[in-house]
Amino acid sequence: MSGYDFFTSGAPKQPQESTWNFQFRKLFTIKTLKDFEVEKETSGFKRTLSAFDLIMIGLGGIIGTGILVITGQAAATKAGPAVVISFIISGIAASFAALSYSELSSMIPISGSAYTFVYATLGELAAWIVGWDLILEYAVGASTIAVGWSGYLVHFFENTFNVHFSPSWTSAPLLFDHQTGYLERIPGAYINLPALLLIMSITIILTLGIKESATVNNIIVGIKTFVIVLFVIVASTKINPKNYDPFIPPNEGSFEKFGVTGILSASSVVFFAYIGFDSISTTAQEAKNPQRNLPIGIISSLIICTILYVAVCVTLTGVVPYTELDSPAPVAVAINAMGMKWLGTIVDFGALVGLISGVLVLLVGQPRIFYSMAKDGLLFPAIAKLHPKFKTPYISTIITGAICSTIASLLPIGMLAELTSVGTLLAFFLVNVGVMLLRITAPNAPRKFKVPGGPYVIPIIGALLDLLLLYTATPASLERLFIWMAIGLIVYFFYGRFHSVANNSNHYMKNKELNEGG
Ligand code: ALA
Repeated sequence: MSGYDFFTSGAPKQPQESTWNFQFRKLFTIKTLKDFEVEKETSGFKRTLSAFDLIMIGLGGIIGTGILVITGQAAATKAGPAVVISFIISGIAASFAALSYSELSSMIPISGSAYTFVYATLGELAAWIVGWDLILEYAVGASTIAVGWSGYLVHFFENTFNVHFSPSWTSAPLLFDHQTGYLERIPGAYINLPALLLIMSITIILTLGIKESATVNNIIVGIKTFVIVLFVIVASTKINPKNYDPFIPPNEGSFEKFGVTGILSASSVVFFAYIGFDSISTTAQEAKNPQRNLPIGIISSLIICTILYVAVCVTLTGVVPYTELDSPAPVAVAINAMGMKWLGTIVDFGALVGLISGVLVLLVGQPRIFYSMAKDGLLFPAIAKLHPKFKTPYISTIITGAICSTIASLLPIGMLAELTSVGTLLAFFLVNVGVMLLRITAPNAPRKFKVPGGPYVIPIIGALLDLLLLYTATPASLERLFIWMAIGLIVYFFYGRFHSVANNSNHYMKNKELNEGG
């Protein structure tokens, strides 16, 4: 075994080794940096995305339902005007994870995001756990935004054209009952048709090619950023300082109702607003000069949206009393209070167009994660097929579209958003841990970008913040996270474990030669 780490290499069973030991060891097989080199060279993807495209993909994924819907609800029910502090806390957690993502994506520019990074650090089982967990962030996240979009569509048509759609066909037929803990059927509601159609249309665009979708995304992000900046500028002239008093409303007796704990509880909710920057790392194999451009894309997009979010929080809670913001369209509430119908129409339209890019970006990410998992043998091989002409992972794109359209057409937005947040927090936690481990196991590997301040400050604080925000999440969403992860483990132990490429003895022999040959 000289020159090659037996414990993490996927080596076949040794004559003196017990079966238990062998089976246990296989769970920790890592993909080596050499594996990634080979994958990078042999990928069939076209490299078309510039640094600018990557920033726009980041903004496309980040800005959406979180700032347009959840901010108002968090201010009204949990934090008051201090929701801006909640945004800053979750922004710090997100930026620490972003720095860790940047370091790892500059080392391992392979599509697959946190899944790939963890495979290189914590081994196969942990990677599977992350990959399975990322389905919550990407597929459930895309579905959440699609449901939010459907709500805006209904609102837009009512306000602008006085056209009313039937709720039977525009809202979820299932509702989560907090009392019983079960999903209940809503009488008279059948399906959320707009959400379903949105996901199906985007799936078709994505099957045809990423460059086309990047161009569409760039236009959409331009529109939504313009609309948010316009709102902030106009609203900042209408601020009434009385609305900031009290800035931190006193706690009302329970953990999440105002006061300092309310601010923390709101942080885990508004965390949803930052999700999406990591989708940049899923396009690594389609990016030009990925080692340089991925960190630029991740960090720039997060900085831009954090500034926008703080500005929106300050103006939103300055224009109307926070108690009035508990609405599916809080920005519209603020605009109504200012008495500017023209601005309402523009913002409504921008939100409608803007939410499309959120769905688009997450639907770009999910198939690429499935693709990476299938390439590694942990999912069916057909999923890793690229379209011969369009060079897109079309099978995984279509599967993702089918899953998301089903979820989005049946489930309510609150439940989906919470599940997305806890799933993402778990992934971010593991990415922070991954940075520390890879600095130990591969200290000399080339890193075009390094987390500032050394491997232990930012990743440790980031990991602790992720745990804190998970701790403040609702028990129901944590329960769902555990159930989902348990299903994932069953899939791994019945399928992935037997088909894993990294644990295949031929692969091991090839790798051994490469490593020992230098
Ligand atoms: N950050 C994305 C949003 O707020 C998921 O919609």
